[in-house]
Amino acid sequence: MSKEKLPVVVLISGRGSNLQAIIDDAENADCPFEVSAVISNRPGVAGLERAQRANISTRIVDHKSHANRESFDAALIENIDAYQPGLVVLAGFMRVLTADFVKHYEERLINIHPSLLPEFPGLDTHQRAIDSGAREHGASVHFVSCALDSGPLIVQARVPLETGDDAETLAARVLEQEHRILPRAIRWFAEGRLAIESDGEAERVMLDGNPAL
Ligand code: GRF
Repeated sequence: MSKEKLPVVVLISGRGSNLQAIIDDAENADCPFEVSAVISNRPGVAGLERAQRANISTRIVDHKSHANRESFDAALIENIDAYQPGLVVLAGFMRVLTADFVKHYEERLINIHPSLLPEFPGLDTHQRAIDSGAREHGASVHFVSCALDSGPLIVQARVPLETGDDAETLAARVLEQEHRILPRAIRWFAEGRLAIESDGEAERVMLDGNPAL
């Protein structure tokens, strides 16, 4: 008898290559999660086609049809909760979310970000890494808290900066790692191996009872 898989809703805004990595992993028989739905805030993006090719339900919640963040996020919550997910994954979802949204999915909302957080939250991370003279860069998966690109880290992957790198070559090297660590983090969550521990001030993620990072 096969165990029940954790239902996951994935939010995207564009290309959806991270979504593809999640879909590919979910196709493995031993995968402990399944993708219940993909929701995009932009119509017509490639990620929606990827979902449709994999016979996954899609919805569009267009931020342009909403007067403010509160109304957009309320619509998003309604659409996500229709699938009763155990986990919501932000995979290239390019909208800042309200505190109410983050609270609603407390401890079951994760994000992939293309930098070694807390370095370089926000946009243009690859160029900023190059400009800073850093010797390495990378990607992070983290539980989402209210501030932008912040929250307890689950897993990071590091890549070296190479001579002659530009934002594009570096982004490609980082993206490969994103595709590796995002499905891994979702598996850990689905297997019940992650916990958030707080010492009153800072929070950290535990994996199998040990600090994840
Ligand atoms: C990724 O680099 C992700 O980390 C960032 O936006 C990019 C989205 O790529 N937030 P894709 O849509 O998953 O291909």
